[in-house]
This record gives sequence, structure tokens and C-alpha cells, in this order.
Amino acid sequence: MKRIGAVLLLLTAFLWSAGELTPAQQSAPAGQSSQTAKRDHWWNNAVIYEIYPRSFQDSNGDGIGDLNGITSRLGYLQKLGVDAIWLTPIYPSPQVDFGYDISNYEAVDSQYGTMADFDRLVSEAKKRNIGIIMDLVLNHTSDKDPWFEESASSRTNPKADWYMWRDAKMVDGHREPPNNWISDFGGSAWQWDPARQQYYYHEFYVQQPDLNWNNPQVRGAMYNVARFWIHRGVAGFRLDAITALFEDPQDRDEPYVLGPDGKPSIDAYGDKEVTDIYTNNLPEVHDVLRELRAATNAAGGGRVVLIGETYLNSIADLHKMYGAHNDELQLPMDMQVGFINRFDVGLFRERIDEAETGLNGDEPLFVFDNHDNPRWDRYQTDAAGAPTFGYGPHHDDIGRVIATVLFASRDTAMMYYGDEIGMVTTPPTRKEDVRDPIGIKGWPKEKGRDGERTPMQWNAGPDAGFSSDDAKTWLPIPSSYKTVNVAAEEREPDSMLHWYQQIIALKRNDPALHEGEETMLNRSDDHVLSWLRKDANGEAVIVACNFTDQPQTVRFNLSALGVSGTGLKTLLETPGAPAPQSIDAVALGPFGVYIGQVRSK
Ligand code: GLC
Repeated sequence: MKRIGAVLLLLTAFLWSAGELTPAQQSAPAGQSSQTAKRDHWWNNAVIYEIYPRSFQDSNGDGIGDLNGITSRLGYLQKLGVDAIWLTPIYPSPQVDFGYDISNYEAVDSQYGTMADFDRLVSEAKKRNIGIIMDLVLNHTSDKDPWFEESASSRTNPKADWYMWRDAKMVDGHREPPNNWISDFGGSAWQWDPARQQYYYHEFYVQQPDLNWNNPQVRGAMYNVARFWIHRGVAGFRLDAITALFEDPQDRDEPYVLGPDGKPSIDAYGDKEVTDIYTNNLPEVHDVLRELRAATNAAGGGRVVLIGETYLNSIADLHKMYGAHNDELQLPMDMQVGFINRFDVGLFRERIDEAETGLNGDEPLFVFDNHDNPRWDRYQTDAAGAPTFGYGPHHDDIGRVIATVLFASRDTAMMYYGDEIGMVTTPPTRKEDVRDPIGIKGWPKEKGRDGERTPMQWNAGPDAGFSSDDAKTWLPIPSSYKTVNVAAEEREPDSMLHWYQQIIALKRNDPALHEGEETMLNRSDDHVLSWLRKDANGEAVIVACNFTDQPQTVRFNLSALGVSGTGLKTLLETPGAPAPQSIDAVALGPFGVYIGQVRSK
């Protein structure tokens, strides 16, 4: 089973059974070797905010979000405390995969605006010390990209070898695909092309042919794309599907994933499930990452960050993504912490610890939400312990726990638009309403990703303030917008939005929470996850999160860690929390959070 499919299917199964350097100011030289130097870049301890441009703010009333809409909301993002925005793809595209099928890498899709709009977004963001991170899709292009059209036109054209073309396998006189590889999005990963009389490989949709990364011209062309955007002032790239660039040179069949009956298990699309040992995370990807890093360092003077979409199974594999000499990705995404998908204190402790100790001082990038997975309300469970969507009794408390793990850990924090107001996953209820093709193909087992891509809820007015009039929005506005929206939460002191603003402010401004080292506390506690952050000058902060729906009390023995404390000064706690709190006994309500500074006198 492959990356995205693995996550989506796992969730489907689960759900239905401070003032520091900013991207605009930065310029710490790359290649320093001490651990301090490793943390000396603008992206360290930063907050990166993912925007799905179709759904953030529509400025021209066509029901689709756009670049000018994003520019108009920069003040909001500055107030929230974000250092950089990752934009999912805005390039010209047939929009089969809503932008992840790119047909021109050096332009802007007219649905989203013009290149002048883009330049204005970059410069306006820079004024607010916010960097713009582009989504770079290297694994595949659209089948409407002129590169592919040329490649498909004959077996002898100059780009004939730019994609993964293979001859058919003849079995009993019948044409069959070269092997059993399946697409993450359903069906064989091979598509017959009548003109070339060959198959091409597509890990994702048929309309997303995979590039041949063994071809040096392909590499050179893509490094030029990166240079193009760096020269326009971008702060970095999020590298889509980066572990998928290479496949087994011998095209060997993948082994089948067997079910309990010993037969291949069947996925949501009706395919026999296979592993991804021959199609994912092959070692050659590291050569590309080194080359790309060298190219972006040279063009960007060491200030351009490379972030990877890295669904990996172990901390060791994640560590490799930084490069043996810190010469690959600066921020491969750690999917091990954020996608545990259930409140298991032991697992959270173990995985956070691994990120703290298993990356040799490199910066972990934690993330709980993105445009491919149900939002953080998936952590909310029903009486039987099964995750549910929506606004249950502990919705906001659970959100505070998640935001606390995300922002009070020693990490770079990546969040998704709408997290900060507690938008919930709102999947379509009827197949005819589904927009994401995988939801149409996989219905009802796989409902697709529309539920986490609904328009941002700005206010209680028409179209939730997302669109400028009563336009038909590309996805429906969830009915929750009347109460769950930015304007309402600005007015409400105990809102989720205020929690996000406050905890992000602590991450930016409190020295221990900004860059202090991190140590787990009370390791055998099955109910409460707690940890200590301590900066070089001895400021110490404890963080405690109740992972249960019952009240809990925790006690700390900090002297063993060289911290002597006489009391705690509360920095942030769940509204209505029990008080007063002391080192001897911190009382937490159901899913309660407490963050306090240790007083030494
Ligand atoms: C990544 C994107 C996802 C897209 C896929 C194919 O996983 O996050 O949205 O569908 O790549 O490009």
C-alpha cells in the first residue's frame, strides 16, 4: 500500500468502523555543523500555514479562492503569528487533481490570478515578514503539459525518454501492463498509449504521468523551475510526493499485501493491494535531493527551505531525508506524530521523543492536518473509542491538546487553514456531490478529500465571507459557519482562535518555548502527556496535556532534571481550568491543558 492511499484508507477504516529571523529577514549561511547552527535559520521554530488557494478567499465572486483573496487576508495571518504560507499548486492545470496536475510550471492559473497578482502577494507578504512557499510537483506532470504531449508524440522525439514508457507484456497473445503496480488513486498504474503503442506509468491519476528522473534533462528542467520561482522571491518549496520519484529499474512485481485469510487484501477501489517496496523511497531520491538543495542554495543564498511530503515508516528513514551532511531537505515532514490518529499517550511520548533524540539535532517538522486527510476532529472519539467528526462535547478541548503538542514542542509547526477556528471535516453525503475524483471512484469506502477542503469560514454572512457575493462556491460552505467563523471567534475570549493566537505567541516569544530543549516528564503516566522546555539561560516551562475525558492531577519532580522550583506561573491553560496550580499538583479537566513557567523563588 502506498503513501497517500495508506493514510486515507487507514483513516477511512478508522473513521467509519518571536520576533526572530523571518523569511524576509533571514540569511543564515547553510552548511554549518554544530547543532546550534542547525537551528539558526528562519524556519527553525517557525509556524508554516498551509493554504488551499481554491478555498481560502475568493476576491472576484466566481466561487473559487484566488491570490488576491489571500493577499487581502495577510493581516489576519500576521496577527495569528505565521512565518510562512505554503500554497498548494497555483500553476496552470486542467485541475483533475485540483492543481497537482501541472501543465505549465512557470505561470499562474488564470483561475487564481496573474503573475502580477503573485508578485504582489510575495511583496505584500514580505512586508509582514511572511514568506511564500510554493508546492513543487516533481514526480509527475499533467498529461496536458507540452513536455508530455511531445514525449507521447513518437518514440524518437527529443523528449521521448522524459516519462516512464514501457512495452506491453504479451501474455497468451494479449497485451498486458508491464507488471502489477497499482495507482494510489485506483486501478493499474499503467496506461496504454495508442500513438506510442506503449504503456506509461502514473502513480496517481491517469492524467498525471510520472517523469523519468533517471533522465538528466528532466532533472535540469525541474531545477530551472525552482530557480525561476526563487528569482521571484519565494521562501521555499514543499516537495510533493518526493519519495515517489524512482521505481525499480527491473520493474519487478510488488508483493501482495495479504489479508487474514491469506489472500491479497482488496483496497477501497477494488484493487488487490500491493506493497510499495519497488515504487517508493528508493535510494536514488537522495541524489536528486542533494542536487536540488545545491541548486536552491546557490540561487537562494541559503535562505530557501525545502520541505518534503515524507510519509515514512521510521525515524531512521526520516533522518536520512535531511542528508548525511545536512545537504538534502531542511524540513522533511514528520508524519509519525501527527497521524497517530488516536489519543494514545504512550505513542505520542515515544514518537515525540524519537523526533527529539533520533534526528541528531535536526529540526522536526510536525503536522497534524493537510488537504489530504480529515481535519483534527478525527481525534474526537465516541463512547466506544472510535474517532468521529463534528462538534462533540470535547471538540474544543481536544483541539487545544493538539495545538499544544504542535506549538509547544521543539519543532517547526505546520498547520492547515481553518484549524485555528476549529473547522470540522465535512465530507459529502451523496456521491453526486463529490468533487475529488478518488471519492467518486472509491465511493462509499473512500469519500475523497472534499471534507477537509471546504471554504474558509470568515464570518456569519453570505458564503461565510469566503466569496464576495452569493456565488455558488466550488464546494459547499459547511452549515457550522454561523457560529464557527473568524469574526465570531475574534469576539469570544475563550475561542479556539484565541488559543491558537496565544500559543503561537508563546512559541514565538517565550525563550523556553521558542527554542528550549525538551524532556518528557512522568514517563509512566498513562493519562497525561507532560514535558519540560528549558532554554540556555535556565528558563523552564512545563506543559501538561490530559489525554482522557476524566479529570487528572499530575505531580512533578523536577529536581532530578536540575530544575528547582517553588511554584508555577501560568502562561496558558484551558479556559475554566481548576486553580490554583502548583508544582506539587497540577489539576487538569477532561482533555485539559496547562502551561506554566517554573518559578525559582
Ligand atoms: C500529494 C498531494 C495530493 C496529490 C498527490 C498527487 O500527495 O498532497 O493532494 O493528490 O500528491 O500529486
